[in-house]
Amino acid sequence: MTAEQAKKEIERLTELINYHNDLYYQQHRTEISDYEFDQLLEKLVKLENQFPQFRLPDSPSQRVGGTVTKDFPQVDHRYPMLSLSNTYSEEEVREFDNRVAKGLGGQPYEYVCELKFDGVSISLIYENGLLVRGVTRGDGVRGDDVTTNVKTIRSIPLRVKGTDVPAWFEVRGEIFMPKDVFEQLNKEREDIGEETYANARNTTSGTLKMQDSSIVARRRLDCYAYYLLGEETGIQTHEEGLKKLARWKFNVSPTWRKCKNLNEVLTYIKEWEDKRFNLPVETDGVVIKVNRIDQQEELGLTAKSPRWAIAFKYKPQSVSTKLNGITYQVGRTGAITPVAELQPVFLSGTTVKRASLHNANEIARLNLHEGDYVFVEKGGEIIPKVTGVDLSKRSPYAKPIQYITHCPECGTKLIREEGEAAHYCPNTTGCPPQIMGRIEHFIQRKAMDINALGEKTIEQLYRRGMVKTPADLYELKLADLLQLEGFKEKSAKNVLEGIEESKKAPFENVLFALGIRYVGKTVAEKLARHFKSLEALAAASYEELVNAPEVGEKIAQSIIRFFRNPENQNEIERLRKAGLNFALDKNSFVPESTVLNNKSFVISGVFKKYGRDELKELIIRNGGRVLSGVSGKLDYLVAGENMGPAKLEKARQLGIRIISEEELERLLNGEAI
Ligand code: IVH
Repeated sequence: MTAEQAKKEIERLTELINYHNDLYYQQHRTEISDYEFDQLLEKLVKLENQFPQFRLPDSPSQRVGGTVTKDFPQVDHRYPMLSLSNTYSEEEVREFDNRVAKGLGGQPYEYVCELKFDGVSISLIYENGLLVRGVTRGDGVRGDDVTTNVKTIRSIPLRVKGTDVPAWFEVRGEIFMPKDVFEQLNKEREDIGEETYANARNTTSGTLKMQDSSIVARRRLDCYAYYLLGEETGIQTHEEGLKKLARWKFNVSPTWRKCKNLNEVLTYIKEWEDKRFNLPVETDGVVIKVNRIDQQEELGLTAKSPRWAIAFKYKPQSVSTKLNGITYQVGRTGAITPVAELQPVFLSGTTVKRASLHNANEIARLNLHEGDYVFVEKGGEIIPKVTGVDLSKRSPYAKPIQYITHCPECGTKLIREEGEAAHYCPNTTGCPPQIMGRIEHFIQRKAMDINALGEKTIEQLYRRGMVKTPADLYELKLADLLQLEGFKEKSAKNVLEGIEESKKAPFENVLFALGIRYVGKTVAEKLARHFKSLEALAAASYEELVNAPEVGEKIAQSIIRFFRNPENQNEIERLRKAGLNFALDKNSFVPESTVLNNKSFVISGVFKKYGRDELKELIIRNGGRVLSGVSGKLDYLVAGENMGPAKLEKARQLGIRIISEEELERLLNGEAI
């Protein structure tokens, strides 16, 4: 492709992808499949890597991340990011309204009510229509520049088009992790044996500060815009601001409402008290804002907050109900989760019957006794929480709840490792939920993708002694399946076809499917790329493992433990015989560019801009190889600070080129060094 053609193609793809992205995020419609969308994006990323000079400032490739930031620079806010004073009662809202009326000296005024979204506030700066900076609130005066991470959030426009777009404007909003995304993330963490995150807000805040923007991109954050600022916005009211933001394709929550007076404000507050739990985002109150901007200015600010706006916070709704008992769930990894079984009770629009108690520490913290009445609260989350005990209702004879000592499913004595909150059932090969859990993990979409099999069928197969490990699936016969309840010739054949088809799943899926503790899909992909075959991975030393991208001590140890286990070795052998992909398909790994083809690198020392893993990945993604030691065959030694003098000396003696990270970047850009 000539440079001219590449330029045109990059422009075409950018426009096309942005069109489909807008369609999806603005109108919630699609014209192409996710797969087709990903293909377009992949094509663009490849072309941009080959011709970086033609990358456009609003390129959707920024949405997939890839840049790595070590420290986020601090930036001053043009307008300080104030907080709002909080109120907790109708009375206090009434007092606020009185202050506003007095401050405006009898002028008529209106409010806009919005929900108070529980996320992380962000300031987005646009210059000449382009998003140039995303800055966190920080201390209100200056915050962290998290632009590369913000750009991965698909509902934040990278470019705003229109005749009414000022040269400079700022948008404030709230970045959040939608509830379903948060639940899914926690499910995935639980699945690989990681501890789950406590709440969506902290997870959002942690995600925004992550160094690797490609991980941020996968977290699927979202952003509600609620404030337009600038000298030339041309708006007279807050309402006009919200409408303009929506027209400029920002994500404005449609839950706002103009309220003519205090009564309408109070109605809004009442109306959303329960309804808010059905929204995709956690909310903890209502923000009440004076609508006219000139009146906002007239009312002015105090040192910390504006006089023209206030937050009303809902009281967390709490009910007391009887604790009927505690049940204990056993997960795929053997982790035990205690669950409070409650006398069903109505709370904020739904009936609550159960609440997670997380682990033994939580039960001890609550000091739960048998027959207790507990307070149950619905925070922002979907799952209710037990927040305390109603001591007035406790019988003096009540006994403290004893945590179980043995697995409720198989009777094995539980263990608790140092530093871990959870108890585990160590009977990995004999405990039914662990066995079924492993098979469920194996067949899931991101793994072997055998969707003809479901939880119910797996349970039947297991209970009838037909399947104990994933490898048994590949030995199933039609006659076996026909014995199952509800199975006819057609459905049985379907299952067999699905199992057969799964043999085509790529190596990275197989690696994830094996269910090595702490090896989630991302890590499996990185391991597959790095080691290229299961054999190489199984043979890797601890050193080699920790040198691979994304692999730390914990994962390295877990991998070693997994491959040492004779039962796992046996299972792997059976899966190999069944015909699963145990090596990277040569065609499946397509480097992003070939600029480093046939060149080998050793990385040593500490770097300013990139972590060592990131450098390794950059090299591999662009066709190069990373070696562990300096030898005559080596092309480049990438030297950071504090690298070992022996390595440096050896490289010098062998006449190997020693380059800096900046020089490596130039190589990646196809420049000569
Ligand atoms: S307006 C000067 N509107 O609440 C007014 N804030 O303590 C600026 N928040 O840090 C804020 N939802 O992160 C506004 N609809 C909304 C909001 C909202 C959540 C957060 C925001 C701010 C805090 C105020």
